[in-house]
Amino acid sequence: MNIETATLLSNEPAYEGARIAWLHAPGVSANVQPGQFVMVHCSHDGLDPMFARAFSYYRVDGDRFAILYNVVGKGTGWLAERGRGDQVRVYGPLGNGLRLPDQAGNLLLIGGGVGIAPLVDTAERAIAAGHQVVAMMGARTAAHLLPASAWPKEVEYVVVTEDGSARPKGFVTEHLGQYQEWASRVYACGPSAMFESLANVLRQNGRRQRPEILMEENMPCGWGMCYGCAIFTKHGVRLCCKDGPRFNLFDVF
Ligand SMILES: Cc1cc2nc3c(=O)[nH]c(=O)nc-3n(C[C@H](O)[C@H](O)[C@H](O)COP(=O)(O)OP(=O)(O)OC[C@H]3O[C@@H](n4cnc5c(N)ncnc54)[C@H](O)[C@@H]3O)c2cc1C
Ligand code: FES
Repeated sequence: MNIETATLLSNEPAYEGARIAWLHAPGVSANVQPGQFVMVHCSHDGLDPMFARAFSYYRVDGDRFAILYNVVGKGTGWLAERGRGDQVRVYGPLGNGLRLPDQAGNLLLIGGGVGIAPLVDTAERAIAAGHQVVAMMGARTAAHLLPASAWPKEVEYVVVTEDGSARPKGFVTEHLGQYQEWASRVYACGPSAMFESLANVLRQNGRRQRPEILMEENMPCGWGMCYGCAIFTKHGVRLCCKDGPRFNLFDVF
């Protein structure tokens, strides 16, 4: 883990309620695994809010990294108002990332809302390693979707919206259809309700895809010091930041 003062390179709207920020931070951009996260101090003085906020690496490019973030509260509100040249304290990379198979396979990536954030980088690496990739994103409306241009062109991008403003209508886990049969591995990031529903669907096909998920519990410290991110798993209590955020879906749901 590295601690750095990053320089904000850009901070642009991505879709309704979400922005993409690129930051220059050579140490925090080095040796990042897909699905790892970075902690960002979202205040000038480190006092309000006191704790840094956790964000998945959305993309990494040399000595720069990007986060895709929803503006939901005090910290992300502060970040949304920062501009090019502003400085932000960050530390990372943290946590255990996703494990891509050694043999070329069919990878199904499933993102609920901003849970899609770590999956673009995952898709880029998977394509480079010779895998076939389908990425499914569930969102409330068409205005909350990441555009198709965000993905490598080799990725088949499937969207599902709750209100049907982009078809099909419903929750992403209701539309796995032929993709769950096609997939040799499944990777997902999103809210707990999505994981629960995903576990129910995948149980019916014998759990053969060994699905890995990225959990997004509240993380005050991000590196195992505060125990604020403890969760119950089928193997006992685990710290989401240090033991995760990658878990086997069926160990938790
Ligand atoms: C490992 C990890 C990776 C994450 N990656 C991303 C990411 O890539 N993009 C992104 O937008 N967010 C991500 N999050 C969630 C992000 O950390 C929170 O949205 C952020 O801390 C909110 O800070 P705030 O000060 O703006 O909101 P607060 O004022 O602290 O809270 C505002 C609202 O957001 C809710 N909230 C706070 N923390 C979380 C959380 N962890 N998950 C869901 N809701 C939360 C609160 O319950 C409250 O309703 C991630 C969280 C974790 C633990
Ligand atoms: S966030 Fe502090 S122990 Fe996990």
